[in-house]
Amino acid sequence: MLEASGESHTKLPMQGIAQPTRAEVLNLPRVHISQHPVMAHKMRLLRDRHTASPEFYQLVKEIGSLLAYEATSSLALREQTIETPLQETKAYRLAGGIGVTPVLRAGLGLAEGFRQVIPDVQVWHLGLRRDERTLQALEYYNRLPHEVDLQVCYAVDPMLATGGSAIDAINVLKRRNIPRLSYIGIIAAPYGLLRLSQAHPDIDIYIAELDEGLNDVGYIVPGLGDAGDRQFGTF
Ligand code: PRP
Ligand code: URA
Repeated sequence: MLEASGESHTKLPMQGIAQPTRAEVLNLPRVHISQHPVMAHKMRLLRDRHTASPEFYQLVKEIGSLLAYEATSSLALREQTIETPLQETKAYRLAGGIGVTPVLRAGLGLAEGFRQVIPDVQVWHLGLRRDERTLQALEYYNRLPHEVDLQVCYAVDPMLATGGSAIDAINVLKRRNIPRLSYIGIIAAPYGLLRLSQAHPDIDIYIAELDEGLNDVGYIVPGLGDAGDRQFGTF
């Protein structure tokens, strides 16, 4: 967060930038906003400033599981024959590997929730840090394998603010030639959602809720504050 003192002479990064409204981005193609009542219930708890770090982290994991369930609903299946204790029958398995890329640090809780739904996902860690003065994302860590055989990879990061981090994360994943990519976030600002959708019109975007906008320093409002700090207790 920018220091309030001594910065009044400096133009704040979002000052003077026109932002789209919620209504203008609600019907973007390939954008899925959760309509689940359990999600709305958990989001109330997550946003509340009085929710302490351990409960916040737990909620991020639970929301990650709900989003994983929604985002994987159209995955390809392969038929196989199995034996129940009574007889043979046809059954199905997921066709091809699944990857999840948590954008460090705040994506870690979401990835953990994702793994509770699909335990055998590959987890590819990618470190991006937003410079709070310029709002540009900087890559500082990359453990993406080079030999890849996945049907889909999900970039997961709770906050889609200006969209810079999400656009960069998908750019990095695109260099791995995975047939299908998706982005999973918890809260999006219309500005970031529009930028991500325009930069990567070929991916699906799943979010829990769409907020009103960004404040002058690039924080989502009403938002939930700093998702990384609240998960890991670093205030
Ligand atoms: C936050 C958040 C996103 C990014 C969103 O991470 O988790 O990665 O900011 O902002 P953007 O859409 O404007 O790029 P941050 O850089 O604060 O790092 P952290 O996860 O380590 O807290
Ligand atoms: N990152 C966060 O953690 N929160 C915001 O509101 C914006 C970026």
